[in-house]
Amino acid sequence: MSTYEPFVSEQTSQRVAVYPGTFDPITMGHLDIIHRALNLFDRLIIAIAKNPAKEPLFTLEERIAMIRASFPAKEKRIEVDMVSGLLVDYAYKRGAKAIIRGLRAVSDFDYEFQLALMNRRIEREVETVFLMTGFRWIYISSSIIKDAARHGGDVSGLVPDHVCEKLRERFMRP
Ligand code: COA
Repeated sequence: MSTYEPFVSEQTSQRVAVYPGTFDPITMGHLDIIHRALNLFDRLIIAIAKNPAKEPLFTLEERIAMIRASFPAKEKRIEVDMVSGLLVDYAYKRGAKAIIRGLRAVSDFDYEFQLALMNRRIEREVETVFLMTGFRWIYISSSIIKDAARHGGDVSGLVPDHVCEKLRERFMRP
């Protein structure tokens, strides 16, 4: 008979988490998750990762700059980086114990479940932690914000002011 052996990590270092995403662009919903994650972890690495299904509007450099500008320079617990290759490998190498993902609605669940289980299969020392997005941000996504901005819709309050400005510049009509 096989016995159940719970997996216990022996790492005892600082609690580091990785928050991956496309961040095209960062929204108030992402910021909400970041603040919640900072209540649980000592350090948070915001990692811009490649989703093969997406063709971003903003370059990697622009996305990094927009994320950095969303925090005061004195916020030393946050790092912004990019990931190429497998996310869990990156997380493991960076000493992260967890990958943070935000959940907005039931519709997020299927994909997130698959992602988390595949990540665990590849690297079981890294857990996925799901955080509930604040109620106010449950309906937003980067795509819907870009779509509204593209057609001249007002997206202020849904993204940081500097991101709003970037979207305005990008979609400004001649
Ligand atoms: N508030 C607002 N929007 C939110 C949100 C929140 N709290 N949480 C998620 N979203 C939105 C995002 O804006 C994004 O919207 P979009 O689809 O319109 O761009 C969407 O929900 C989810 O995107 P995001 O969280 O950015 O993740 P993603 O699906 O683009 O990224 C990766 C998935 C990058 C994490 C995944 O592809 C990955 O791990 N890639 C690395 C390679 C790898 O390891 N692959 C193997 C995976 S098993």
